[in-house]
Amino acid sequence: MNKELRRAVIAGNWKMNKTRPEAKALIEELAPLVAQAKCGVVICVPYTNLQTALDLTAGTNIKVGAENCHWAKSGAFTGEISAEMLAEMGVEYVVIGHSERRQYFGETDVTVNQRVRAALDAGLKVILCVGELLEQREQGITEEICSMQTKIALGGVSEEELKNIIIAYEPVWAIGTGKTATADQANEVNGCIRGVIAKLYGEAAAQAMTVQYGGSMNAKNAEELLSKEHVDGGLIGGASLKAQDFATIVAAASK
Ligand code: PGA
Repeated sequence: MNKELRRAVIAGNWKMNKTRPEAKALIEELAPLVAQAKCGVVICVPYTNLQTALDLTAGTNIKVGAENCHWAKSGAFTGEISAEMLAEMGVEYVVIGHSERRQYFGETDVTVNQRVRAALDAGLKVILCVGELLEQREQGITEEICSMQTKIALGGVSEEELKNIIIAYEPVWAIGTGKTATADQANEVNGCIRGVIAKLYGEAAAQAMTVQYGGSMNAKNAEELLSKEHVDGGLIGGASLKAQDFATIVAAASK
């Protein structure tokens, strides 16, 4: 058990926020603040901000991600964006299976798996989100839900391809609510997810896997969450929209 084996990654998930001028201002403020980071830094932005983000982060340590992609290469899917379209732009990461996509847009474990496959095939790195609803936590089935979501999402993914996947544990009840999982709760579920990876791919792959926590992680609570053995970074929503707050989280992960 050695946290040194894996790299912490702090990823911002801007969701449906920021016009292009607003995105430009945020990235220009953020870039110098995180330039010395010892962890990976990613910003996942709306499709309309991808080119702005790519242009402004060129030559910096900030990587750019999208917030979703479709599973098909191309075709009659009005309103959708393919993994290949993102990769061709120079986008490096994509968030897949976010609970907001599952809750509001009918995405299922099966389509999450199809999107993961498409993203890997296009050469993208995936931030795969899993997490339980409040009712599921109360029923005591958090580990079962997170294990199942992880296993289905990784169907057909090879050990080699696993290197291009980060898993983000995001309890749905903690997203955007100000209710953070305690550091021990986060560590417990992240450890369970690592155990699933160990069963599927072996102990070495599990130890190398970056497993983030997400859900109201902020400048105040990040250090405690990130100090836990199985918490290898964070997927940050609200706090990623403020350069100073996001930079504070990056600094906490760089310790
Ligand atoms: P939050 O969002 O930090 O605003 O809770 C996290 C996420 O949804 O990725």
